[in-house]
Amino acid sequence: MHSLKQINEAFEYINSRINIHPTIGLILGSGLGNLADDILNPTIIRYQEIPYFAQTHAIGHANELVIGELNGKFVIAMKGRFHYYEGYTLDEVTFPVRVMKAIGVKQLIITNACGAVNTNYKPGELMIINDHLNLVGNNPLIGKNDNLLGTRFPDLSNVYDIKLRKLALDIALKLNIPIQQGVYAWWSGPTYETPAEIKMIRTLGADAVGMSTVPEAIIATHAKIKVLGISCLTNMASGILAQPLSHDEVIEVANQVKHQFKHFIKAIIDQMD
Ligand code: HPA
Repeated sequence: MHSLKQINEAFEYINSRINIHPTIGLILGSGLGNLADDILNPTIIRYQEIPYFAQTHAIGHANELVIGELNGKFVIAMKGRFHYYEGYTLDEVTFPVRVMKAIGVKQLIITNACGAVNTNYKPGELMIINDHLNLVGNNPLIGKNDNLLGTRFPDLSNVYDIKLRKLALDIALKLNIPIQQGVYAWWSGPTYETPAEIKMIRTLGADAVGMSTVPEAIIATHAKIKVLGISCLTNMASGILAQPLSHDEVIEVANQVKHQFKHFIKAIIDQMD
């Protein structure tokens, strides 16, 4: 586990580079990072410069924090995130959320690309995450708990903030953006699921499946940061269609919807406190 001292070291470095106080955090998923390009007066900090930050090697992910102004709000955006399947510990995967907390982030928008498990969904649609299933059998809070960071046994009955979900839904309807609301299942990857696994995941109550988001959402909840989770459904999950899954398809669909996605997230930020 990273210590409070290490979190503060990373915070101090970032803070020395900026003179604003961002309160909204953004984690940008596969192919969705270009939202950060719209941030005004940006300070761009490469992950390799920040103490204890990892580097992601996943395709479609840069390795930069972008801090500045978006729709009148001060934001800190992760352009590229760390995945469990890259071999990082969940502590490494979620360290940036701890640092965001130290910076003063109160609300965190977590985005991802994922597969549609619910057969009524279509690739290219967006989904507001209502709840999640942790199917990985690991938890980022396993280990010694520092009570200064959060409670030992956090309540997860409201991980995805109800007010933020309602705001996102209202905005999607107003902007005519095809939107779903559902349960996101976290799968470790890097393999996509088998058709049998997707059948199981659907039976267990999930509407979408992906390889990220849940660790960050758990740590944010531990840190009392409000979370909004937005998924981009890039493909039908394994076994639903005859074709095999590919990362190229995921990136291609994420690319197709990135303008709409950007428009949507900016409209949400515009209306956030
Ligand atoms: N499964 C898991 N992760 C994903 C998928 C999927 O079908 N699509 C994009 N990320």
